[in-house]
Amino acid sequence: MWSPSERHALLILAVLYFPAMVLAAGKGKLHRPFNNTVSAIFVFGDSTVDSGNNNDLMTALRSNFMPYGTEFPGKRPTGRFSNGRLVTDFLAAYIGIKELVPAYSEPQLSIQELMTGVSFASAGSGFDENTASMLGVISMKKQIEHFREYTTKLAKKLGKKKTKSLIEKSVFTVSAGSNDIFIGLYSSLFRTDESINLYLDKMVQNATQIIKDLRKAGARNIAAVGLSKVGCAPAVVSINPGDGGIFERNCNESMSADAMKFNKKFQKAIDQFQSPNFRVFYVDTYTPMAEMVKNPSNFGFENINMGCCGTGFLEMTFLCNPTSVICPDRSKYIFFDSVHPSEAAYKIIFKALRPTIDEIIQFFN
Ligand SMILES: *[C@@H]1O[C@H](CO)[C@@H](O)[C@H](O)[C@H]1NC(C)=O
Ligand SMILES: *[C@@H]1O[C@H](CO)[C@@H](O)[C@H](O)[C@H]1NC(C)=O
Ligand SMILES: *[C@@H]1O[C@H](CO)[C@@H](O)[C@H](O)[C@H]1NC(C)=O
Repeated sequence: MWSPSERHALLILAVLYFPAMVLAAGKGKLHRPFNNTVSAIFVFGDSTVDSGNNNDLMTALRSNFMPYGTEFPGKRPTGRFSNGRLVTDFLAAYIGIKELVPAYSEPQLSIQELMTGVSFASAGSGFDENTASMLGVISMKKQIEHFREYTTKLAKKLGKKKTKSLIEKSVFTVSAGSNDIFIGLYSSLFRTDESINLYLDKMVQNATQIIKDLRKAGARNIAAVGLSKVGCAPAVVSINPGDGGIFERNCNESMSADAMKFNKKFQKAIDQFQSPNFRVFYVDTYTPMAEMVKNPSNFGFENINMGCCGTGFLEMTFLCNPTSVICPDRSKYIFFDSVHPSEAAYKIIFKALRPTIDEIIQFFN
């Protein structure tokens, strides 16, 4: 038992320490823009937002080794497909939730970490279930199952009511589709305008179903990320070169045009959802990528069509590994490996998305 004077001393300590703690929290620049009350961020999709869910899978699509993570806090590989943080990490930090969004598969996540959100995304996944099954990764449907399993676990700790309101106050992010374009659409030799349109319509249908499934699982606010200018990825340029052939290394504009077609259809499909208690925001990553490729020097880039890792033509996943040479200045490359943007590019994409993000987080006020 504490004597009254000891208790008094404790009280003084607490009073002295409390403002210090608040200050320390403020110094970590985790403030809440628009005084938002977002509780967590949940992420679904492919390698653009996977923070390590493939690490223990039997798949070639992993990146939990150097040089991935060279610029990550602590200079360590995590399973993120870049040299540093992803847009979803910047997003969580900006909202004021936390600095990084961990993978759901990470062992021993604290309750605090679980309550503020995780990524269920899996590199190689797509809206076409065949893409994920062919590559041995976690399909979108399975990712949503994992989310349901997560909510059940959380409800056991927090109670059903608290869990429900936590989920209602969360931002859901869905970012997928490039693998469907790369594999489902461009590996086929028999592409006609008609078959392309049919495939894109199916993709949109499946993406719409994912959004409906998330709504059923409790989501109220979804950031639906459109496709980037995928025809500019260095590996695409090596395999499916655009005009000028293999030596010019121009973007494959027809592939990007197909991505844009998907985006238009997807946006139209999303419009059906808007209601006072369920909103889907379209997130445009195509425009910032197109601008970076068009005017690289405006953003400090010197290389737009090669990956920083290896020769830059084809290396990604296991081909970009500890024995690969990497470029000395990663901030001068749009792409870190031959498919995935560098942290520098992700940061610029994040900045371009800020107006949309601000709209999303104000939905909660
Ligand atoms: C946030 O809340 C503070 C204190 O209530 C208020 O002074 C400030 O104007 C608010 N900021 C915004 C952007 O709403
Ligand atoms: C859409 O989903 C169905 C069912 O999972 C799947 O069989 C089909 O391949 C998918 N197609 C596309 C193009 O996404
Ligand atoms: C893009 O790639 C496809 C598939 O290899 C090829 O047929 C097409 O000519 C390329 N075109 C352009 C304009 O980029």
